[in-house]
Amino acid sequence: MDQIIQLAYLLAAISFILGLKFLSSPETAAHGMLLSQGGMFIAIVATLLYNGVVSYGLILGGIVVGSAVGAIMATKLQMTDMPQMVALLNGFGGLASALVAGAEFFRSQANLTPYPMVTIALTLLIGLVTLTGSLVAFAKLQELMRGAPIIFPFQHGMNLLFFLATLGLIASLAITPTATPVFWALIVIASILGVLVVIPIGGGDMPVVISLLNSYSGMAAAASGFILNNNVLIISGSLVGSAGIILSQLMCKAMNRSLTNVLFAGFGQVNTPSKPVSSQGKPQGTPEEVQSCSPEEAAAFFKKAKSVIIVPGYGMAVAQAQHSVKELASYLGDQGTDVRYAIHPVAGRMPGHMNVLLAEANVPYDQLIDMDEINEDFPETDITLVIGANDVVNPAADTDPDSPIYGMPILHVDQSKRVMVLKRSMKPGFAGIQNPLFFKKNTMMIFGDAKGTIDQIANALK
Ligand code: TAP
Repeated sequence: MDQIIQLAYLLAAISFILGLKFLSSPETAAHGMLLSQGGMFIAIVATLLYNGVVSYGLILGGIVVGSAVGAIMATKLQMTDMPQMVALLNGFGGLASALVAGAEFFRSQANLTPYPMVTIALTLLIGLVTLTGSLVAFAKLQELMRGAPIIFPFQHGMNLLFFLATLGLIASLAITPTATPVFWALIVIASILGVLVVIPIGGGDMPVVISLLNSYSGMAAAASGFILNNNVLIISGSLVGSAGIILSQLMCKAMNRSLTNVLFAGFGQVNTPSKPVSSQGKPQGTPEEVQSCSPEEAAAFFKKAKSVIIVPGYGMAVAQAQHSVKELASYLGDQGTDVRYAIHPVAGRMPGHMNVLLAEANVPYDQLIDMDEINEDFPETDITLVIGANDVVNPAADTDPDSPIYGMPILHVDQSKRVMVLKRSMKPGFAGIQNPLFFKKNTMMIFGDAKGTIDQIANALK
C-alpha cells in the first residue's frame, strides 16, 4: 500500500508543477486550476489510505464543515475582497501546520531528539507568524483596523529581539524537549511576532505582504511534511513557498521598490500630497482647476477616434465596470475603431487583477497588452480612456524625484493625443499623491462612478 501511496503522491506533485506552469498564461489558467485540483484530490485520497488514520468520522466531519464554509465564502465574495480572502486562507494554512507541530510535540515529547524537535519548533514558529500576520493583514484590508502603518520607536529593534527570543526558545527545546512551558512560551512569542511584523506595513502594501505570507504558509507546510515524513507536503509546500517569494519580488519590481522597503519603510504612513503647482505658484487639486467634460461630450470625441487605448485601474474593480467597458469597446470595434487595453502589472490591488476582471467580461486576451509593449503606441493614439486608474498613469513617477512613486514604471498615457480620465473626484489613489496628468492640456476629466459613466458614453454613442 505504501508504494501505491508514494506513487499517488508523485502523480499529485507532477499535477501541481504542471498546474503552476499552466497558470502562467490566461489561456491555459483554467486548465491549470483543474489539474492542480485533481492533484490535490489524489493527494487527499492517498493520505486517507494510510493505515495510521485514527478516525474517518472526524475527517469526514471536517471535510463537510470546511467545504460548506469554503463554498459559502467563495460564492458570497466580491472580487475586490479577494486579497483579504487569500490572507485568511494563508492564515489557516499556517494554523494547520502549527497544529500538526503541536500534536506531534505532545504525542512524542518524551522521545524527541534535537532534529525532530527543531523541525517541530520551526514549523510552529513559521505557522504561527503566518497565522497572526495574516489575521492582521485581513483586518487591515477589511478595515477592521487602521490600514495605515502603525509605527512606534525602536520597533524594528523590538521585532529583532522577539525573533532572537524565538531562536533562543527553539535552541532550549532542542536541548530539553520535555520543557513544556518553553514550548508554550514559543507559541506566545511567535504569535506576537506575526502581529508585530505586519502592523508597520501600510494597507496598500498588503498584497505584497499577503503573497509573502503565502510563501511562509508554504514553508510551514513543507516543514510539517518533514515532521510527518510526507513527501507530497514537502513538495507542495516548497512550490507554494517559492511561488509566493517570486510573486512578491515581481510585485516589488513593478512598483520599483525593494522587499525590504515594503516590509520596513512604513510606506503610506504620512500622506504627502505632492500637488502640482499652477503657473501662479498655487497648489492645484480641485475639480474647478481641471478640464472636465460630460459623458455625452466624450461620446462625440469617440465617434471621431480611429484608435483607443483603455487603461483600467482599481476604480474599474470598485465600480464593477468591466462588463460595461467590454460593451463600449465592442461597440467602438464594430464601428471600425482600433481598441486595445493597456495592462499595468500592479493596477488594482492584486496581481493580475485587471486580467481577471476583463477575462470575466470575455474581453479577448489578444486585446490585453502589457505595459512594456504598449507604451510606445500612446503618441499615435487618438484617445486613451483611463478608467479608475491613478498611480499607474502618474507622470510624477518619471519627473518628480521627491515623489514616493518616483522610478515606478508607468503607462505613458500623457503622450496620447487626448486623455480622458474617469473617476469620481480629485482624490488621490493608493499612494496618496496628486496626479499631474489631470492638469495637462490634453487631459479631460469625466467625474462620476466608472460604470455609470461608461454606460452613459455608450448610450450617447448609440
Ligand atoms: P489607484 O492609484 O489606487 O487609483 C484608483 C482610482 O480609482 C482612485 O483615484 C479613485 O478615485 C478611483 N475610483 C475608485 N472607485 C471608483 C469608482 N467607483 N468609479 C470610478 N473611479 C473610482 O489605482 P491604480 O492606478 O490601479 O494603481 C494601483 C496602486 O495600488 C498602485 O499604487 C500600486 O502600487 C498599488 N498596489 C498594487 C498592488 C497590486 S499587486 N495590484 C499591490 C500593492 C500595491 P476617486 O476616489 O476619485 O473615484
